[in-house]
Amino acid sequence: MTSKSSAVTISTSVSLKNPTMSVKKMASKLGFPCTLAKPGWVPVDLPPLLGMKVYINGRFYSEQNAKVSVFDHGLLYGDGVFEGIRAYHGRLFKLKEHIDRLFYSAKAILLDLPMTHAELMEATLETCRRNKLNDGYIRLVVTRGRGTLGLNPNRCSDPQVIIIAGKIQLYPPSLYKKGMEIVTVATTRNHHNAVNPAIKSLNYLNNIMAKIEANIAGYEEAIMLNAEGYVAECTGDNIFILKDGRMFTPPLSSGALHGITRGTAIDLLAELGVPTSEPNMTRYDLFNADECFLTGTGAEIVPVVKIDQRVIGNGKPGPVTKNVVKAYHELTKVSGEPIAKR
Ligand SMILES: Cc1ncc(COP(=O)(O)O)c(C=O)c1O
Repeated sequence: MTSKSSAVTISTSVSLKNPTMSVKKMASKLGFPCTLAKPGWVPVDLPPLLGMKVYINGRFYSEQNAKVSVFDHGLLYGDGVFEGIRAYHGRLFKLKEHIDRLFYSAKAILLDLPMTHAELMEATLETCRRNKLNDGYIRLVVTRGRGTLGLNPNRCSDPQVIIIAGKIQLYPPSLYKKGMEIVTVATTRNHHNAVNPAIKSLNYLNNIMAKIEANIAGYEEAIMLNAEGYVAECTGDNIFILKDGRMFTPPLSSGALHGITRGTAIDLLAELGVPTSEPNMTRYDLFNADECFLTGTGAEIVPVVKIDQRVIGNGKPGPVTKNVVKAYHELTKVSGEPIAKR
């Protein structure tokens, strides 16, 4: 799927009930303006069950039986925190760093995690073992737990710890070779005095609103600016640019997540002799970059070749980007917490 022909994948009961219904009719039935049906509002079937075993509070359940209460404030209010972790070659990459960040997010929202750091690491590894997962993506979620219909978190008593060990493919492999075209969107990154973007919370509507804008415009990914107009990050990735042999990425104070892949890229770039600094950046800086890439656990490292229709460099993934991608994949072959019991 190229950025221009991108499709919003909406899983709908409507599509399952009536597979012959036109996209236009379906869009209007779903309440979307019909103009949104083109280009690219393509309905897809629900993903098939994969026979996964899902961890919830110390027990494993089949996908069908892995459930939380409808009164859970994670569902009712997006009140909770999460992590996305990659498994490569039988190891969980940067597991400690992900669990550290989960604790920081939880502390920021005064959510007492019901397990220790070591217990969470072990539960994550055990979920991979039970699912025979060597390469894949692990979603670790902690909700505030079941409460009343009011939003007061003090009425919630039982945080739910959920671990899903599955697969993820955010973008088609061809895009990693060709590079991605992205756009800036109007949705402003959350202000740090509202919902601090440093908190990896279950409340992702800010990012989803930006993603919807990108999708409507026919792109896979969006650049989000903060309230002052500086570049913050993309909807699920951090952004880097190269200019005159130096690398730049927005500071965490701009509203960028303290990305773990961001940190890895900074370390790898240093080893490659490319220093990274973190100044406030505007769209002008992006437009005039020599190279650009995005980083994220799910996305990994994605070259960017066009921003708001401005060609970056020569319109192809640049040499520094290619080198950091290579170094990243090399590192994932040898680094991480072994899944197999020692
Ligand atoms: C908003 C946002 N920014 C950046 C990232 C990249 O962070 P990481 O490299 O830790 O996955 C993510 C993904 O976790 C994200 O959701």
